[in-house]
Amino acid sequence: MERQKFELLYPQDKIARRIKELGRLISKDYADKDPILIGVLKGCFIFLADLVRHISIPVEMEFMTASSYNGDVVAENGVTMTGGPNVSIKGRHILLVEGVVDSGHTVKAIMHKLNKQEPASIQVVTLLDKPECRKVEVDITYKGFRAGKDFVIGYGLDVGQRYRNLPFIGRVVEKKK
Ligand code: IMP
Ligand code: MG
Repeated sequence: MERQKFELLYPQDKIARRIKELGRLISKDYADKDPILIGVLKGCFIFLADLVRHISIPVEMEFMTASSYNGDVVAENGVTMTGGPNVSIKGRHILLVEGVVDSGHTVKAIMHKLNKQEPASIQVVTLLDKPECRKVEVDITYKGFRAGKDFVIGYGLDVGQRYRNLPFIGRVVEKKK
């Protein structure tokens, strides 16, 4: 199988430092809020695992799956959601944890779905924000890094369902067909 070409964008130590800062910030901001973290699979899995180990307050964790129709190519508006919180989120403070926010469609669709259950609040946490790719407006409260338009992989993020296991974030130089 042909290997994907990429170059290093964010090294492991830099990611670790940033995640530690985000964990501390969330611990402070949510000290009295008894939050539920809802991880958006699959992209969140490494980020969330690291993040929660830097959160020093008790938190609940739930997961849901979201994907765009075209696999690794970002679909225009077709966000498929499965799973979801298995507990009532009514009146609760929610932190939605994403690997990357690109067009914003995924986060927007999830927020729309969750808001019907009347949580007290929903804030977004993402490892990477790609604001230049935004097509719908979303508020992001906690972001690890701001990236450009390039497609990125690693640290949970895939191209064609592979390379999620890279321990750093890489920028795809030549997209695999
Ligand atoms: P959205 O465009 O914000 O809805 O993002 C849709 C989904 O596309 C994300 O949850 C990721 O799964 C994927 N995605 C967008 N940009 C990238 C990227 O640079 N690398 C890997 N996945 C991406
Ligand atoms: Mg993907």
